[in-house]
Amino acid sequence: MTAIFVCPRMLLSLLSGLIMGAAVLFVLYRWVIPTAVQYHGGLALLWHDIIVERALDTLTRTSRPQRILKAVQRKATVGDPQSVITAIDHFCRHREWAMNVGDEKGSILDSVVSEVSPVTVLELGTYCGYSTVRIARLLPPGACVITLEFNPDYAAIARQVIKWSGLEDKVQLVEGASGDWIPWMKEHFGVQAFDLVFLDHWKERYLPDTKLLEECGLIQKGTVLLADNVICPGTPDYLEYVRNSPRYNSHYYRSHLEYTKAEDGLEKSVFLGY
Ligand SMILES: C[S@@+](CC[C@H](N)C(=O)[O-])C[C@H]1O[C@@H](n2cnc3c(N)ncnc32)[C@H](O)[C@@H]1O
Repeated sequence: MTAIFVCPRMLLSLLSGLIMGAAVLFVLYRWVIPTAVQYHGGLALLWHDIIVERALDTLTRTSRPQRILKAVQRKATVGDPQSVITAIDHFCRHREWAMNVGDEKGSILDSVVSEVSPVTVLELGTYCGYSTVRIARLLPPGACVITLEFNPDYAAIARQVIKWSGLEDKVQLVEGASGDWIPWMKEHFGVQAFDLVFLDHWKERYLPDTKLLEECGLIQKGTVLLADNVICPGTPDYLEYVRNSPRYNSHYYRSHLEYTKAEDGLEKSVFLGY
C-alpha cells in the first residue's frame, strides 16, 4: 500500500489555484461575456437565452420564470403594478436576462397603449406577464387584455405575477396556441374586433396569425398591430407584409433588444380598412 503525502504548501497552492480559477470564471460569466455580447443580438440570445438559462436551471433546479416570480415576491408591493415592472426590470438587467419586452421598448409600448386607449386588447405571448402588466395598468375603465400563452408553466407564473400586480380584473389569461384560439375569440369572449394587438410570441407566427385575425374579422379599421422583436430575432415576412400592404400604415420604432445594446424595434401598423 502506498500512502500519498500532501504537504501543506502543495495543498495551499492547489486551493489558491482553485479559488483563482473560480474567480476568473465568475468574472467571465458575470461581466466579460455579457459586456462582449451586448452589441450583437444573436450572440446575446445564444448566451443569455440558451447557455446561461440552461446552466442556472440545472444549478438551481428552478426555472427562469420561477426566479423572476421570486424577484417579484421579494421586491414588489402587492397591488402596485409599477413596482412589479421595476422589480422584473431590475432583476433582468442586473441578475438574469429574460425575454420580456423590457423597459426601453416597454416605454414605447406604454405610449402606444396610452395613445390608442383600447377597450379590447389581444396579446400573443404572455411569458411571465411582464408586458401584460404594462398594458393592463394603462387601460381605461372597463377595458381588458386577453393574453395567450401556450406554455402551461409560464402561464402559471404569469397568473401569479398578474395577481401580485392587482390587475386580475383587467386580464384574461388564456392557455393555448394562438392558431387554435384566434378562430374562437368572437364566440368565446364576445369580442367584435380588437383595438390593439400586441404580437410577441414566436416570430414565425406573426404573419399567419395576422392573416388569421383578418380572416376572422378581428381586425377592423383603426386596429393597431404592435409587433415586438421585428429586427432581433426578426420577422422579415411579417415586415414585408405590413409595410407593402395598402391596407396598413406602418411605422418602425427603433430601439434595443431587451436589456442589451443590440438593435431591435417595434413595428406599429394601423389597419386602414378593406
Ligand atoms: C417573447 S415571450 C413573450 C414576452 C412577453 N410578451 C413580455 O414582454 O413580457 C414569447 C412567449 O410566447 C409564447 N408563445 C410562442 N408561440 C406561441 C403561440 N403560437 N401561442 C401562444 N403562445 C406562444 C412562448 O411560450 C413565450 O412565453
